[in-house]
Amino acid sequence: MSSPSQSHQILLLGAGELGTAFVPHLSSLPNTHLTIGIRTVSKYQHLASSNVSLLSLDTSGPSIDLAEIFAAFDTVISCTGFGQPLGTITKLAKEILQAGRIRRRRGAGKLWFFPWQWGVEYDVTGDAEGLMPLFGEQLEVRKRLRTDAADSHVNWTIVSTGIFMSFLFEPFWGVVAKEEDGFTVRALRSWEHKVTVTDVQDIGKTLARIVAGDVDSQDRVLYVAGDTVSYAELADVVGRVTGQKVKREEWTIQHLKDELARDPEDVIKKYRVVFAGDGVWWDKEGTVNYRLGIPVIDVETYVRALFST
Ligand SMILES: NC(=O)c1ccc[n+]([C@@H]2O[C@H](COP(=O)([O-])OP(=O)(O)OC[C@H]3O[C@@H](n4cnc5c(N)ncnc54)[C@H](OP(=O)(O)O)[C@@H]3O)[C@@H](O)[C@H]2O)c1
Repeated sequence: MSSPSQSHQILLLGAGELGTAFVPHLSSLPNTHLTIGIRTVSKYQHLASSNVSLLSLDTSGPSIDLAEIFAAFDTVISCTGFGQPLGTITKLAKEILQAGRIRRRRGAGKLWFFPWQWGVEYDVTGDAEGLMPLFGEQLEVRKRLRTDAADSHVNWTIVSTGIFMSFLFEPFWGVVAKEEDGFTVRALRSWEHKVTVTDVQDIGKTLARIVAGDVDSQDRVLYVAGDTVSYAELADVVGRVTGQKVKREEWTIQHLKDELARDPEDVIKKYRVVFAGDGVWWDKEGTVNYRLGIPVIDVETYVRALFST
């Protein structure tokens, strides 16, 4: 981190659904300047302000250039999304380590890195028996940071968020389906199985408190949760809040695997198998937002806003 007399320079890579939600929370931190690194600056002009700059940057570019750019920042937060070719997040982790070493040579403080790991417990899921090479790569990034960051003048923080709240209700996800005469709610694995979900604004709010130093965050995985619900609770909430009929369908692991076997390249079907497994939920009591008393949107509040007419 920078000394109190200098402003904390944060580089946010990507400003999609998640990165955009981070901007107001990070840019309102005291003594902070936020730079958003994206490919096409003209698309993001609306995000610029007196303490938010835009920088044209492509993370698929040459590593030597990127490491030099990253070395100019105290903190790098990656929000470049799912749509990256395999190898991209490993490349970024290596460049961050290189940037840390550049900073050490210059006598600058350690570089603080938040990798793109806004999701589940990749230590538990691994690559989901080969189903999710990207998740396997997330795990490899964790291992690399655990072994190499200290020697490279880098601190890291991983923030596990579960799935985005919006994702749980996406029609393509199929878990909460609006029908003409009510809803169908489908359980992945069983009605007792759970899922952790967080609204992107709440991830941003909590991230800002982490960056502000309000929790012990160096070189560790932290957890955030807007809510953790069983599928039975989810069905109950949808019925109670909307007052409509809820049909319940249990998609067992076997059913999900059979569905995937029929369509082996279907990414959503792969995800459903993964989300029927372990490492996709945690208790709210252990989360940063709970410990800091940060108000967050729970499933009931989200359902009320989404389905109230
Ligand atoms: N835990 C979760 O549930 C979870 C986690 C992550 C994502 N998702 C899902 O994935 C979707 C995407 O969310 P997201 O915010 O992570 O990603 P996103 O909306 O796809 O945004 C990605 C951002 O990164 C930028 N970007 C992409 N490639 C880049 C490159 N090579 N160099 C520089 N910038 C680059 C994009 O800019 P340009 O393309 O404009 O250049 C964009 O601003 C969401 O709808 C969400 O449902 C879910």
